[in-house]
Amino acid sequence: MIVLTGDRPTGSLHLGHWVGSLQARTQLQYIHDLWIIVADTQVLNGDFAKLPQIQSNIVSVVRDYLSVGIDPDRCTVFLQSQIPQLGELTNILSNLVNINEIMRLPTIRQESELYGSSSMGFLSYPISQTADIVLFGAELVPVGSDQMPIIHFANDLAQRSNTVFGTDFAYIQPQLSTKSRLLGLDGQNKMSKSLGNAIFLQDSAEDVWQKVRAMYTDANHLKISDPGNILGNVVFDHLDAFHMDKPHLQDLKNHYQRGGLGDMVLKKILYEDLLEFLQPIWLKSQNISDEYVLDVLAQGTAKAKVCAASAMDLIRDKVFCKK
Ligand code: TRP
Repeated sequence: MIVLTGDRPTGSLHLGHWVGSLQARTQLQYIHDLWIIVADTQVLNGDFAKLPQIQSNIVSVVRDYLSVGIDPDRCTVFLQSQIPQLGELTNILSNLVNINEIMRLPTIRQESELYGSSSMGFLSYPISQTADIVLFGAELVPVGSDQMPIIHFANDLAQRSNTVFGTDFAYIQPQLSTKSRLLGLDGQNKMSKSLGNAIFLQDSAEDVWQKVRAMYTDANHLKISDPGNILGNVVFDHLDAFHMDKPHLQDLKNHYQRGGLGDMVLKKILYEDLLEFLQPIWLKSQNISDEYVLDVLAQGTAKAKVCAASAMDLIRDKVFCKK
């Protein structure tokens, strides 16, 4: 089965990416045919000020993939902008979509309310994402919960294309990760680069410690003897993801809720856990040159080009009634 997922190259990846998607990918690559799209065309949907960094961001993202254990022998990593058939298919599919449907999608609605107006490119990104999925014949798409409406939209659109154009796009199954989001350092939002509340995979040990030290815990846990709250507590949210000894974690939770366990003790435990997790990633990253990263991307993109061209030939024949 073909599995496709991807990221916009807007910068380095962080622990939230690991928890929400990278971890699942490192496992999926052993079970399925995994394709990862580096969605550089989608960067055009946002802030043009990010364009000068796009090349270095692409390298950072792919380096992070390789550092966490994405294996280029098992997995096809490719660059969206190098596949012209994606634009062609987006253009064809856009004729099946009513603008009102797009405006009903939560991510589109929120962003266009935020900015007051939206470019055509931004409005058609759900169509472009559908093209990414169906052109490569993906049947499983691992996504975060916020992307679920887009996958429903993609399925609707794929079915409509099958009915109107006679294409044979498969049903797209979304796959939600079991723990799909990690709290940011502030405890207010999920971890996100743009909110400045993230621990990056490539942060230094010193940065990691400073960030762990600053993590929001429980504002009412003033004295060590006070009972503490674990819900919404960023340290426990991270321990859930990175402390491997689960019975020990349960003891820590019980102790914290009873009172008598200080935040600093927990933060030191978390720091050790994060070091244990990050050190192999740092080591691997040091041994990966930019040339190697670009080579992996070039090979994946070359394979994607061949598949895209033959898939689009078939689709074009169907749409324009050649066969
Ligand atoms: N929209 C996704 C993001 O912002 C990236 C993406 C582009 C994607 N095409 C995709 C994800 C196809 C899954 C399937 O991160």
